[in-house]
Amino acid sequence: MKKSIIILMFIASISGAIFQSCTGKAAEKNELQKPVAEAKEVSVEDAAAATLQNLQAAFKGETTASAKYAAYSKKAEEEGFHEIAMLYHAASTAENIHANNHKVVLEEAGQSIPEITPEFTVKSTKENLKDAIEGESYESNKMYPEFMITAKAAKNELASISLNYAYRTELKHLEMYKGALAALESNNVKSLPTVYFICPTCGNTYQTTTPKRCGISMTSTEKFIKLTKLS
Ligand SMILES: [Fe+2]
Ligand SMILES: [Fe+2]
Repeated sequence: MKKSIIILMFIASISGAIFQSCTGKAAEKNELQKPVAEAKEVSVEDAAAATLQNLQAAFKGETTASAKYAAYSKKAEEEGFHEIAMLYHAASTAENIHANNHKVVLEEAGQSIPEITPEFTVKSTKENLKDAIEGESYESNKMYPEFMITAKAAKNELASISLNYAYRTELKHLEMYKGALAALESNNVKSLPTVYFICPTCGNTYQTTTPKRCGISMTSTEKFIKLTKLS
């Protein structure tokens, strides 16, 4: 008899809203409010299949976010907001690490990785920050927590690690973007940090200084990517 468990099953295809945070388009409010989860009896096998689907969605999201933040960085620099350009540069670097982690897990599972064509719209830095806050909120409050539950049900340890790395980092990005928007709105952008450190293992992002080891993956700080200028 097939062993079944009761879990909250989260599958990327359930919600068309999955990519809205990453692409910066089609962020219809009613889509945001759509339920993306349903409780039902599923097997470990079904959770495993859903996890691979979720990782594909997350890989597309992270790849798009990395390209989008690089473009937002360029825009911020053009508008004279170097400090915000550095934040975007750092976040873009981190998202690329998340994308690569998800890709590795998919490859370990024998999955093929489709070519991703990032789609997004660059607006003013103020609007771009609001878009970034919306995207990071969606990923850290909804998408990754749901994907992590399914990965745990699937007993997919590598997926759980990769999803957790991204989740923990997005929480930090969210606060950094909120701080940047507050600084922009109070005409205080120059007070923002200009030096960033990125953990090469998990994408964890630090401003100005770092502890001896990454607070998420315990990677030694000596291995961190230090960003002091745009490149
Ligand atoms: Fe990310
Ligand atoms: Fe992020």
